[in-house]
Order: sequence, then structure tokens, then C-alpha cells
Amino acid sequence: MFDTTGKKRRAAQAALQYVEEGMVLGIGTGSTVHELIEALKNCKIHLEGAVSSSRQTSEALRAARIPELDLNFAGELPLYIDGADQATAQGALIKGGGAALTREKVLAAASTRFVCIIDDSKLVDVLGAFPLPVEVIPMARSYVARRLLALGGQPVWRDGVVTDNGNVILDVHNLTLSDPVGFETAVNQIAGVVTVGLFARRGADVLIVAGNDGVKTLTP
Ligand code: 5RP
Repeated sequence: MFDTTGKKRRAAQAALQYVEEGMVLGIGTGSTVHELIEALKNCKIHLEGAVSSSRQTSEALRAARIPELDLNFAGELPLYIDGADQATAQGALIKGGGAALTREKVLAAASTRFVCIIDDSKLVDVLGAFPLPVEVIPMARSYVARRLLALGGQPVWRDGVVTDNGNVILDVHNLTLSDPVGFETAVNQIAGVVTVGLFARRGADVLIVAGNDGVKTLTP
């Protein structure tokens, strides 16, 4: 039996097979990514550097002595590795539980391959039981909340949280996202929305799912 941390560690370890010597790697945020950075620190693969998706990840990279590179100079990334809050076997994701969704979405978009590492409790048939994070500029918070209500959700302000970009987060409850691409597109149209934590238009290319009976790899 593995606890959740043990499963996250196994998923992170399995992702190392995609990391090549001399690579510039995009790196997400969260506790599963923390396990990835530990695994990178302890393995023999030498990276040219990593592009970080958050201040939290930048700190962990510094502690692991992995050089951090600026995306503006790194160009297209060959590989991005990140966790998720929920995932479908088709590669659609909910992300942003750690409030890093905007930079994470940029890195996913700027990468040739996106490998998502999760424990098996996060694999679902339909997204939505995990409240969908939406990053919003502060003055648009109430307006965007009303638009999200009109789309059928129940937005809740994540009080006290300011993102690395100086914005706020609305967590949208009570959603059943049977058309994740359509919903992502609809939320993207709301003025004041910076990023919706639905990664369906550009989802994961590879899902590494760790459970008690081992690690399985899905290629949506
Ligand atoms: C941060 C994220 C994380 O990937 C997501 O919250 C999963 O985190 P964890 O690996 O700690 O379960 O999207 O914004």
C-alpha cells in the first residue's frame, strides 16, 4: 500500500524516462512536482536548465541547484512536466489548486510534449468535482463571478490568495464538465479572466498515473 505522497513520488520517478541529458525542461508547481525536483536532484541526468511556473518552484529549483532559465530566451521547450488536480484519460485537466495556473498554461502551450503526473485518485471520467480555479484581475472579480454564475457554476473567491501575477482566484463549484473544450473557450471569452484552470484545448500528451498496483502510462 502506498500513501498519496508515495504515489506522487512513483509518478514523478516514472516521468524521468522522458527527461534527456542537456534538456531545457519546463516544470510545473505543487507537491507532485516537488517529488519530481527531488528525483531530478538525485538522478544522474544533467539539465541545461529549467523554466519555472511559480515562485515556489523557483525556490525548489534553487535548492536543488538546477539553473533556472527565462522562457523568453529558452524558445520552444521539448518537455513540460506538471501535476494536476483532476484528469481524464483523454488528457483534459483541471489545474490551479496551487494558484499557479497562468504560468503553467503558458509553459504547457510553449512545450512540444506535456507529461502530467498524478496519483490515481485524480483520474476521473468527467471533470468538475474539483472546483475549477479561474485567475481574474482584481477589479473584475464581481463581474467575472456573475458571468460564471450565468454559465452554471458557483464561484467562490479564494480569499487572501494573490497569485504570482498579482491577481485573485475564483474557485468554481458545482460543475459537470462534459464539454471541457467548450467550457474553456466560454470562460476565456469573459473580460477580466486571465486564465481558466481547464487544460482541455492543450491537455496532457502523456498521463502518468500512480496507484497501489504500479504506474500506468496513458497517451491520450
Ligand atoms: C498548481 C497545480 C498543481 O499541479 C495541482 O494543484 C496539483 O498539485 P499537487 O501535485 O500538490 O497535488 O495546478 O497550480
